[in-house]
Amino acid sequence: MSDSIILGIESSCDDTSAAIIKGNCILSNIAANQEIHKEYGGVVPELASRAHQQNIIPVVQKSLTKANIQQNDIAAIGFTRGPGLLGSLLVGTSFAKSLAMSLNVPLIEVNHLQAHILAHFIDDANPEPPTFPFLCLTVSGGHTMIVLVKDYFEMEIIGKSIDDAAGEAFDKIGKIMDLDYPAGPIIDRLSKDGDPNAFTFNKPRLESYDYSFSGIKTSVLYFIQKEVKKNPDFIKENLNDLCASVQKTIIDILMIKLEKTAKDLNIKNVAIAGGVSANSALRKAMQDNEKKFGWNIFIPKFEYTTDNAAMIAMVAKLKFERSEFTDLRTTATSKYDL
Ligand code: KG4
Ligand code: ZN
Repeated sequence: MSDSIILGIESSCDDTSAAIIKGNCILSNIAANQEIHKEYGGVVPELASRAHQQNIIPVVQKSLTKANIQQNDIAAIGFTRGPGLLGSLLVGTSFAKSLAMSLNVPLIEVNHLQAHILAHFIDDANPEPPTFPFLCLTVSGGHTMIVLVKDYFEMEIIGKSIDDAAGEAFDKIGKIMDLDYPAGPIIDRLSKDGDPNAFTFNKPRLESYDYSFSGIKTSVLYFIQKEVKKNPDFIKENLNDLCASVQKTIIDILMIKLEKTAKDLNIKNVAIAGGVSANSALRKAMQDNEKKFGWNIFIPKFEYTTDNAAMIAMVAKLKFERSEFTDLRTTATSKYDL
């Protein structure tokens, strides 16, 4: 049963993705990114849903071809039901429902955030999968939270952002510096030639396990406005140092709370997940803590960090084994708790 072939579909934001899983092994993981949003400096929901409509059939077809399977080999279909942009989710949800009905196979709804976390159980995601319980810093464009993962489907949010997500902070600060969307990976790349201690920006002083990223955005904005008044070329002349300093501040904020949580809960198994877990400084900080605090760290392979359907297929496989199927009358939902 666990070697059944399952199709996963992801369409929660601006990536249309389809993947085939057999057991815990990914046979294909295809994604079509939507370049159109670059012109607008952020995802335009209406354009995202239209692009999903155009991409979904070719992307699913490619995933079958790459996995070398036929439609009739599919034992179940998993899809992202939420959270995300409703218009985007509707495309993947409607497609998954129709295909499940026509192939007469079970439909399985997947929570996108659970999927980022459970991506760690894909065969080639890590040298070893995490053991329960573990902490997972889940950081994406829409969410930032520290999750205590007690079992596959038993998760507790210990702390979360009270305003912007960490990925959103990267993207919004990138926009201030006139970088393309999404700015996270660009800031990561430009930081490599910059001094992370060149500039300092405010860090929040929250006592709880919660995060806040709106302060750093404002702090960078005011600082840059002040400097640009004195020197109009300030951003261009200091771009690498600005990126490295912003990146350092965001990663420091993330790690301070993660370290506090791991210490207070006495947990040594610590993972990262979500788009921002692709960040090289975050990965390095995790590796440093492996030595410093004796953590067992779990860092997913790059292709399973940003939005992808492999993680959706992974969760669908786990639910398939538990016979947790979804009624065909289900609808997409923009909010979906862990
Ligand atoms: O998980 P994801 O693909 O989509 C959401 O579920 O939101 O995360 C996208 C976010 C974007 O904000 C993007 O800028 C950020 O992940 N991101 C990065 C890096 N790669 C992607 N942020 C920092 N460094 C990176 N290397
Ligand atoms: Zn995501």
